[in-house]
Amino acid sequence: MKRFPFFIQLVCLLVLTSSASFAQTLGKASIGEVIKAMTLEEKASLVVGTGLRFAGSGPVIGEADGKVPGAGGNTMNINRLGIPGTVLADGPAGLRIDPVRKDDNSKTYYATAWPVGTLLASSWDTTLVKRVGAAFGNEIKEYGVDVILAPGMNIQRDPLNGRNFEYYSEDPLVTGYIGAAMVNGIQSNGVGTSVKHFAANNQETSRNTVNAIVSERALREIYLKGFEIAVKKAQPWTIMSSYNKINGTFTSESHDLLTTILRDEWGFKGFVMTDWFGGKDRVAQMKAGNDLLEPVNPTQSQAIVEAVKNGTLDVKVLDLNVERILKMITQSPSFKNYKYSDKPDLKGHAILAREAASESMVLLKNESNVLPLEKGKRIAVYGVASYNTYIGGTGSGEVSTTYTVSVADGLNNAGYKLSDDLKSMYSGYIEKDKADHPKKTKLTLGAPRLVPEMEITSDLIEKNAVDADFAIFTIGRNAGEGADRKVDGDFNLTETEHGLLKIVADVFLAKGKKLNVLINAGGVVETASWKNNADAILLTWQAGLEAGNAIADVVSGAVNSSGKLATTFPVKYQDVPSSKNFPGTPADRPKEVVYEEGVYVGYRYFTTLGVKTSYPFGYGLSYTSFQYSNIKLSSSKFNDEIIASV
Ligand code: BGC
Repeated sequence: MKRFPFFIQLVCLLVLTSSASFAQTLGKASIGEVIKAMTLEEKASLVVGTGLRFAGSGPVIGEADGKVPGAGGNTMNINRLGIPGTVLADGPAGLRIDPVRKDDNSKTYYATAWPVGTLLASSWDTTLVKRVGAAFGNEIKEYGVDVILAPGMNIQRDPLNGRNFEYYSEDPLVTGYIGAAMVNGIQSNGVGTSVKHFAANNQETSRNTVNAIVSERALREIYLKGFEIAVKKAQPWTIMSSYNKINGTFTSESHDLLTTILRDEWGFKGFVMTDWFGGKDRVAQMKAGNDLLEPVNPTQSQAIVEAVKNGTLDVKVLDLNVERILKMITQSPSFKNYKYSDKPDLKGHAILAREAASESMVLLKNESNVLPLEKGKRIAVYGVASYNTYIGGTGSGEVSTTYTVSVADGLNNAGYKLSDDLKSMYSGYIEKDKADHPKKTKLTLGAPRLVPEMEITSDLIEKNAVDADFAIFTIGRNAGEGADRKVDGDFNLTETEHGLLKIVADVFLAKGKKLNVLINAGGVVETASWKNNADAILLTWQAGLEAGNAIADVVSGAVNSSGKLATTFPVKYQDVPSSKNFPGTPADRPKEVVYEEGVYVGYRYFTTLGVKTSYPFGYGLSYTSFQYSNIKLSSSKFNDEIIASV
């Protein structure tokens, strides 16, 4: 073989490397040219995530190592072509990253726990939600993250879904408009969102494999509608396909869903990623238009390389997947080399979180205007959740936040006088329970353990009713990724809760004093059987880090409560249409769930069939009384548009 002199070889080498590092690098060359310069292996590596973190016997879902430790995942960097890695992090109620880093004790990385989705939707206020999104997006950017794995936009088909707190509503329109406002707010910072979980991921039981049998009409009108609105009104940078199957096909392998509907019909311009380890057939996923497989698994890249080599995957399909990912990368802060501060305005964000929370809580009952309660009053505060308040749900939607204001602390901050003996009893009890049942892992997957309600003697309640002017009882619930809720003792109150509520109500009533119940939950609970015991009921949902202060704002009347239910409160669980087949069959490990109720989800069912509710969709009181009269419609026939005036 003829050998060239050394200096010619060197010149050739320089020309070759410089062409790869300049003319074909991302940003300098067009995306098409960059793709041309990529090897097959590089393409296959870009469509698979990186940075998976291992602990114990396996990978930790939603926690990766890399530029931002504790983020959910990353995309691959290919330095040769100027393609930086980008960072994807959870989740819907705040940024989930490691708050403390191994090799850096100079600072912490706590994030704002925003009010959960269900609470924000109860505001029905897209301007407010967009403002929250804008602040949230700024925090995402300042912590070095490119894409937030949020918002969660599944429909709250059934009250037992453990992840309902991450979602907005039983109604697709509310879901779509609130979701679009959130996406627009976040993305106004130049960071991306990943709207999830597309689609029909309406339960946690068997979530990775369950086959949702849904009619075309129910899919289009209920389960896809919210996503469609978000795509058309906000163009999320990315969408996350769900784990489940729809009518026999994994969503991440469904060309109908990810290409025909999402792109061809709705005009989605971004890329689709799997949920973590979602789906099975890598080649089918690429062909369907599921561009990124998360998180890393080297066998996935290998399978893709082989499929191209053996002709089962056309390289043109892979090029399209790569192109969509590269488009996102060129928009990202990582690509623009954004110098993030790691110092977002946490104080400012906490103020906004408090405002959004107090604006969105729902006043369900206020007999003889017992609320607002004058500041300075003495309150006997009951219920474990008054002292151990749930600010958000668990799983990948849980946030490591700076601090938490409990109901008791919030009332105290607002100038109410709380019974000290109750406070010390509850605090001691909660501390002991937590010491006896330490949290085993940082990330809770499956049903979280709640501190059980504490029994209180009637003698003590008698004494409290003499010393205090007013009673508050908080009912607390928490749930999250990996498990659905139960009917007994979760949707329904426990025996202890029923007993305590009754006795507190009776004893205070006998002294002419009132009881306000707070519901501190991420989802719906039963209210019909006990609401007569309460003079006022405030649905606080899970209100983020400033929960207690926001609750005190509403209790004191500093904020006029104005939230309205975006989800129905049924009389009993069995009244909910999906209860007949939730979570599917066979009951212990469902393979299939039939959405037998079709489009009759939530109020569409209750109003159409005239089934009584405890509190209907749209319900919510305020401290103002309104009178309305002279209601008129612009026409007696509906023809595309009708104007109602009042
Ligand atoms: C969840 C997603 C989440 C992902 C990454 C999955 O288990 O279903 O919602 O974004 O993990 O943490």
